Amino acid sequence: MKKSLIGTLLITSTLAALTTTLFFSERAQSRDSDFSFFSKSSYRGVMPVKNASYQEECSSCHMAYSPGLLPSKSWQKVMNNLADHYGDNAELLPETQQTILNYLLTNSAEKSKYYRSKEIARSLRNNNSIDRITLSPYFIRKHDEIPKKFVIDNPKVGSFSQCNLCHTRAEQGSFNEDEISIPGVGFWED
Ligand code: HEC
Ligand code: HEC
Repeated sequence: MKKSLIGTLLITSTLAALTTTLFFSERAQSRDSDFSFFSKSSYRGVMPVKNASYQEECSSCHMAYSPGLLPSKSWQKVMNNLADHYGDNAELLPETQQTILNYLLTNSAEKSKYYRSKEIARSLRNNNSIDRITLSPYFIRKHDEIPKKFVIDNPKVGSFSQCNLCHTRAEQGSFNEDEISIPGVGFWED
């Protein structure tokens, strides 16, 4: 009798703990921002760039994108086509190219601990060889309410590829909504 009572109590409390865990992880998932209940504060956003060659070679025409913004397959594709880089020539010496490729592959989205990288990798799990961050389902979903006149038709922006023009802390790896200010338009209010 006593044994079965303890057993029941044990099962009940385990179930209660499980429900609580599920409830909170559900909340953490649905709350799609740099804040996540379970991710340590240091793993919000994406990893900031920490590689000198990459920073130097890949930041003259646009910001040096965090390696965590694309999966490995995509970085491979980008780095294999530097001679014809979206209409520009971004070729490098073979040694520099290899150093940068290694850095990108080691820290790509699917290997990252950062919250947004995980989201990007998840959105590309069935198609990881796109050659643009702006083509990931995650990116498209996050930007589909922004009118063209604020971006392509905005002479102060011109393209979604210029993340840091709108996301004031993009280079620190942070894309919080309250840090967005569109040039010529102002702070973004959802
Ligand atoms: C000579 C200028 C130039 C240099 C240097 C350059 N890029 Fe680019 N990059 C571009 C242009 C132009 C685009 C297309 C931007 C657009 O569509 O508005 C682009 C786009 C990209 C994109 C896609 C962004 C998107 O739209 O999602 C990636 C990724 C990228 N570059 C990575 C790199 C890497 C890695 C390097 C260094 C090896 C590099 N770039 C160096 C000019 C450059
Ligand atoms: C023209 C300005 C603009 C540019 C350029 C831009 N974004 Fe955004 N981005 C926004 C706005 C505005 C939102 C918020 C959209 C909303 O709330 O509906 C947003 C949302 C996001 C979010 C989600 C934020 C959240 O709270 O969930 C991420 C991540 C993001 N952008 C990443 C990027 C990256 C990476 C680039 C560059 C490849 C980029 N953005 C380029 C304006 C921009």
